[in-house]
Order: sequence, then C-alpha cells, then structure tokens
Amino acid sequence: MVKIAPSLLACDFAHLEAEIRDMEVCDADLLHLDVMDGHYVPNITFGPVIVKAIRQLTKLPLDTHLMITDPEKYAQRFIENGADIITFHIEITEDPIPLLKKIREWGARAGLSLDPGTDVKKMDCALPFVDLALVMSVRPGFGGQQFIPASHDKIHYLKNVKKSRDLDFEISVDGGVTTENAPALIESGAEIIVAGSTIFKSPDRKKTIQLLRGNAMQYA
Ligand code: DX5
Ligand code: ZN
Repeated sequence: MVKIAPSLLACDFAHLEAEIRDMEVCDADLLHLDVMDGHYVPNITFGPVIVKAIRQLTKLPLDTHLMITDPEKYAQRFIENGADIITFHIEITEDPIPLLKKIREWGARAGLSLDPGTDVKKMDCALPFVDLALVMSVRPGFGGQQFIPASHDKIHYLKNVKKSRDLDFEISVDGGVTTENAPALIESGAEIIVAGSTIFKSPDRKKTIQLLRGNAMQYA
C-alpha cells in the first residue's frame, strides 16, 4: 500500500493544529516536514522547536526532510524533539554512511535524499544503511514547482536495486506530485508520495489523498 506524506510547507501555518487534524481525518500516513536553512537552499522554514510543537499535536510519524548544509550538527536535536525519520541530502557529504548509522543509533529511521541534478548511482554504497531513499523531483527550496520527468528513471533504478540486492528501504518522491502524475510514479516504484500544494490547495483533500494513492475507483 502506497503511503501519502502531506508536506506541511503548503499548509496554513496560522492554523497549524487544524491543518494537522485535517490530515489525520484525511488518512495521511505521515507528515513531511521541510526544514530549510537558507544555505543549502535559498529559503528558510523552521527548526526543532516547531518539530517539537508538531510532535505534541499528533501521533503521525514525522518525516523530517533536512535541506540544510550541516545535518550532522542538528539531526540528534530533531530526533529528541520528535522526528521519526531524518532525511538529509547526499550532496552535502563525501560519505553519508556515518551519519546514516548515527541517525539509527539515535533512534530514528535514516533517510537519504537526492537533488534532481545528482546521479542516483551515488547512493549505491549507502543503500544498506538507508531506510528511506527520497528522490527530489523538483529543485529543493520551494513548494508548488513543476515535476521533473527524469525523476522516473531514478525511482525505477532504486526499485531494481532494492530487488536485486534484497534491501528494504522505502522509495519516496518529493516535489510537483499531482493526482495526474502519481499513478505513473507508483508504477515506477514510488512507495511514499510527498505532496504539498496538491493536497493543501485541494477543495476535497480526502479525495485528493485517495487519488494520490491510486484509489481512483473509489471516486469513479
Ligand atoms: C521542496 C520540498 C517539498 C515541497 C513539495 O523543497 O522538499 O517537500 O514541499 O511541495 P509540492 O508538492 O507543492 O511540490
Ligand atoms: Zn521535502
């Protein structure tokens, strides 16, 4: 079953509690939290204090996507504040394995993310230490961008590697996902669909989440 991770970046932060409650009612599987530092990406969002507040509002797993240049410095603090998954970018390090191991030791699941311009094969060595492989299908930094079609090949590659090497990480896609392109992404191998604008701007969020899951029949 495909999991849906609404990205809170697109929610109404003035009504954060209501937005989170709504995602629970709409059967979201996890919440995707985009942490940006103004260095790795040209945008700033929020840090551990807000993750702590969100943790107090919900039991949904918190899928914390660190778009920051120093994840080794902050990852533990995010975990202590309630993050269940810590995903950082492969581009910030020569060797992601030590931090992936530490994230697991600190009690969270370890995620590794890939910018659209980065070769997916760079992840090869690290995959046995990865719980979540996150393929970015837009340039990181902002919600509401157009999906980059080349992301399909990366997802498909990861699906094949997972099978041939008998690994058990989950494959996630993040950026520009819509109810139109989600079915093909699932076909390519995506197991967790991250969606911000598509969910939060929808007049019927529950239906949109079902459609993202590929449950079109339910609404035919
Ligand atoms: C972009 C973030 C995404 C973003 C997705 O840097 O990592 O999670 O919120 O937003 P949409 O779904 O609107 O492209
Ligand atoms: Zn994200």
